[in-house]
Amino acid sequence: MRKKSMQQQLIDTARALVAPGKGILAADESTGTITKRLDSIGVESTEANRQAYRDLLFTTEGAEAFVSGVILFEETLFQSGLDGTPFTDLLTGKGVIPGIKVDKGAKPLAGSPDEKITEGLDGLRERLADYAKAGARFAKWRAVITIGDGIPTDYCIDTNAHALARYAALCQEAGIVPIVEPEVLMDGPHDIHRCEAVTERTLARVFDELLAQQVLLEGMLLKPNMVISGTECPQQAGVDEVAATTLRCLRRHVPAAVPGIVFLSGGQSDELATRHLNAMNQHGDAPWTLSFSYGRALQAPALAAWSGKSDNVPAAQQAYYRRARCNGAAARGQYTDAMEQDAA
Ligand code: 13P
Repeated sequence: MRKKSMQQQLIDTARALVAPGKGILAADESTGTITKRLDSIGVESTEANRQAYRDLLFTTEGAEAFVSGVILFEETLFQSGLDGTPFTDLLTGKGVIPGIKVDKGAKPLAGSPDEKITEGLDGLRERLADYAKAGARFAKWRAVITIGDGIPTDYCIDTNAHALARYAALCQEAGIVPIVEPEVLMDGPHDIHRCEAVTERTLARVFDELLAQQVLLEGMLLKPNMVISGTECPQQAGVDEVAATTLRCLRRHVPAAVPGIVFLSGGQSDELATRHLNAMNQHGDAPWTLSFSYGRALQAPALAAWSGKSDNVPAAQQAYYRRARCNGAAARGQYTDAMEQDAA
């Protein structure tokens, strides 16, 4: 009986995260990554500045109509907003589900130094218990697959798939919904067909491992890359081709039992990430909900508008709200060009 109610809780949370017209804000940049983002706007990466920036995002009025959950970095999970309210309470109060990035980053893979393996399994069971106590109801683990000469190797795909499934199984044991993120990077001159082939190989192995390790597919979400041309590919596939190819690839490898697929943006421009998601939803017959779990594509205009100045907070919040609204519409296949012009 107990087991069943835990399963139902996982299923309910996974479904709530992909409620119609809603997606996830990935604001879980590690200290190293957020430092790079803040550097880019000339702001020093102090704990106070990181707090002010996350506060700006999380207090944006009305964004909760389009944002079901927010992925936090550990520092933020245990932090409070500028008015002293713990961030988890602030989010929960708006009906937004707090999540937590639990991996410890992608490190060079032994014996294949141009590839990466994500670390963080040791002690994960204990950390998950602490995160659950702090209010996290879902988690994220990102594996990185690089396309290049002779890579990815099966070795890299296998070890990352194994780790993703170990993470997912531990999350579910703790009552936390795992977001399984195998990211095939878009860097490089490869074309969309190569991206499709590598994404297919990766997803096939990931779902083999998830099933072998008894992960409840109904109680997880997949966070994949879109199938897209490499950034330096001279022949960039258009929006319709990206949508059709991504859908074909996912249909071949993602069981219909998975309730939702929430894409990463991976370095796409914010508008393009919205257009791609919208085009996929306009096809209309996918067995899973297709939505977003964007980091850069939701935050980039807000970060630029803020520039570390409190006077700019309203403009930054307006920029974030606009991206959230546009992506919420794209999650329903109802995004229009006019929405880019609308004021908040
Ligand atoms: P991007 O959308 O910027 O790729 O970030 C999503 C994410 O959470 C990467 O792990």
